[in-house]
Amino acid sequence: MKIAHISDIHCNYGTDFNSKIYGKAVKLLNKIDTDLIFISGDLTTDGLLSEYELAKDKIKEINGRKVIVPGNHDERNLGWKLFPEFFGDTDFINTYDEIKLIGLASSEPDRDDGRLGRGRHRLIEQGFKQDKKITIIGFHHHVIPIPNSGRETNIIEDAGETLDILLKNNVPLVLMGHRHVPFGVKIHKTLLITAGTFSSNRTRAHFGNTFNIIEIDERKIEVKVVNIRNEKEEKMIEFNFEDGCCTNRYYD
Ligand SMILES: [Fe+2]
Ligand SMILES: [Fe+2]
Repeated sequence: MKIAHISDIHCNYGTDFNSKIYGKAVKLLNKIDTDLIFISGDLTTDGLLSEYELAKDKIKEINGRKVIVPGNHDERNLGWKLFPEFFGDTDFINTYDEIKLIGLASSEPDRDDGRLGRGRHRLIEQGFKQDKKITIIGFHHHVIPIPNSGRETNIIEDAGETLDILLKNNVPLVLMGHRHVPFGVKIHKTLLITAGTFSSNRTRAHFGNTFNIIEIDERKIEVKVVNIRNEKEEKMIEFNFEDGCCTNRYYD
């Protein structure tokens, strides 16, 4: 199964949204034959109605099955009331072929940091009990500090409890956004993956605008990062379930 993981589109009528890069990114993405596109939040910059309308239109340009969770920016200015209207449920358990995706809203209205809370922790555990499909969890914020993303301020406040639940349940893959840089690391039997920003002008150093392509089967997970400006694709991390071996381009 091939999943595109995109994040932090930041639709906006000010300086945040780079429509040229967005157009290029969509062209690149639409050439890839994906089974699912997961969007890990921050579709808007200020949660405004005009930004939600723009985001809805822009997302239509992406072909394929899309699954979306909100980010902290989407909850600003009562945006949390608009999200379900425009993009549906903020918390869900969806099943696609051999995988199950548990999407969670980690953001809180008018706050940049977030939390999952006991209700969503229960949803993770409940999702696990149902069957033996490969389970993927997706939400906006990060559970561990992300290198190359500046001073740590917005990690979810129940990161410790969340990490404990993910590791105890051997969740193979967790997809997050928010920090505007791509990153991946394996902890115990869990891959923690962050997507960079798809189309915000707020990029960091040379990371630029990126999205991730994830290939997953019963043997392994492989994550590639696509650099939108130069169209280069680089393998970031690979986790082999059979021997537990993981290779990481940042550290190996
Ligand atoms: Fe963002
Ligand atoms: Fe964010």
